Amino acid sequence: MSDSWAVLAPLLQAATAGRDLLGETIRWLTPRAVTARVLAEVGEHDVRLDLTFDGTTTSHLATGSEVVVALDLADAVRGLYGTDERPWPSLAVTTPDRELDERGPSGWFSDRKGIARSVQELLSALRPAKPDLGELAVEFGSDKWGDLHWYTQHYERHFARLRTEAVRVLEIGIGGYRDPDRGGGSLRMWQRYFPRGLVLGLDIAQKNVTGPRIATVQGDQSDAAFLDRLGRERGPFDVVIDDGSHLNDHVRTSFHALFPHVRPGGLYVVEDLQTAYWPSWGGHPLGGTGTSTGMLKSFVDGLNRAEVGDPRGERSYLDRNISGISFHHNIAFVEKGMNAEEGGPAFLRTLF
Ligand SMILES: C[S@@+](CC[C@H](N)C(=O)[O-])C[C@H]1O[C@@H](n2cnc3c(N)ncnc32)[C@H](O)[C@@H]1O
Repeated sequence: MSDSWAVLAPLLQAATAGRDLLGETIRWLTPRAVTARVLAEVGEHDVRLDLTFDGTTTSHLATGSEVVVALDLADAVRGLYGTDERPWPSLAVTTPDRELDERGPSGWFSDRKGIARSVQELLSALRPAKPDLGELAVEFGSDKWGDLHWYTQHYERHFARLRTEAVRVLEIGIGGYRDPDRGGGSLRMWQRYFPRGLVLGLDIAQKNVTGPRIATVQGDQSDAAFLDRLGRERGPFDVVIDDGSHLNDHVRTSFHALFPHVRPGGLYVVEDLQTAYWPSWGGHPLGGTGTSTGMLKSFVDGLNRAEVGDPRGERSYLDRNISGISFHHNIAFVEKGMNAEEGGPAFLRTLF
């Protein structure tokens, strides 16, 4: 289990609040981590990036160019993960002026424009535009778009309001199955989609997926006690996504164990509901009681429980805390929120 989660949380908060970063925590987002992220955007680049921290400067993007962009590591981190659009407080660009001088005024100016373009490309990588989820799914190799499923359009619709929040996301199913070095596509996708988010992946297999604001944990989604512990230690979560075994029993167990650890206003997502109709996965062609869709469909009745029996009578925890459900092809979104409206008057029920 990665223990970077606890350390990254205060760092991220400090970065996004624009406060000074503490020396101890910023060590976790090292020049190497920042550079890896920038390299993923620009690839090999002919501008050198120097990151300075605690009076020490390290060069990481060096490809022989004499153009050097110097930044304080704290400002680079704010650019990558913060929300403010302030100019770079520590930016310094050094250009090979002497060489340019020798080319005379026209050569000097045209070369400077080329340099400006390259420098800007690098700085843009440090402050990335917000790509959509389909683009990110393709970039990071998640199967949530195109490869088997077309889910990202639905995710966009439900997650848009959370995008700039400092969300905690838990996804069951990291991907790559038994291979510790494969998978992690969707964790990276969420990490990029939520610029201030912390992303935790759970898988039954041991996984080596790492990255800034990404942590992993090994465990079985059919173990309710383990999931409850995980929720207490790492929750509450703004978003839980079940993309694990897709066995109907597992989906139901995970939902009941983890839904209490979803924050009010948060979402619990269940993917691959097609297995609810496949007997070898514990499903049934009618998607009845005992299947994952059977469980989800029962929440519709819970939403309207106040309309039967005593309008102010007892409602279960799920009746009281599910405020909405959306179904799309093979995927459902359960909204956590107060469902406390009273039912209609008794006389209306027997009018006809
Ligand atoms: C479809 S993949 C996840 C893909 C990933 N979420 C993505 O979009 O890139 C399913 C993963 O669930 C894991 N898994 C299977 N059974 C599990 C269980 N009982 N508990 C936790 N993870 C499980 C598998 O090891 C596999 O890596």
